[in-house]
Amino acid sequence: MKKILIINGPNLNLLGTREPEIYGKFTLADIENTLKDFAKKMNVEIECFQSNHEGEIVDKIGGAKNNFEGIIINPAAYTHTSVAIRDAIASVEIPVIEVHISNIYSREQFRHNSFIAPVAVGQISGLGIKGYLLALEYFSGK
Ligand code: DQA
Repeated sequence: MKKILIINGPNLNLLGTREPEIYGKFTLADIENTLKDFAKKMNVEIECFQSNHEGEIVDKIGGAKNNFEGIIINPAAYTHTSVAIRDAIASVEIPVIEVHISNIYSREQFRHNSFIAPVAVGQISGLGIKGYLLALEYFSGK
């Protein structure tokens, strides 16, 4: 069975109460439970990981080599700042899909640049929880 790693970055543990007008009222647990249900239907195995710390995310990506067939990552604010996460992705040669709950291109200018997008297979931005599900469907090959 294909194994897919789901990584959520800083402050996404606060979903539900964090700027609900931008991110909606669903929690990180809602996202992870929805993904787990969908993974069963798609016949893939998933592992969910969240961290507010750049180095922990870098470690998690580095450790994914030979263990996962794909990574779905919402790098949150690190999208716009982290060369380290970009380099980790480039190092492991695992296909990565970048997901954002909000449309980063309709927001502040500083969110328009992603350090991750050039090393990702693709990017989904602005579709809420659905973005994670579409990314998982892509990796399932169905
Ligand atoms: C986000 C968008 C980022 O700009 C922001 O820093 C986040 C969440 C999103 O999912 O819409 O924390 O990645």
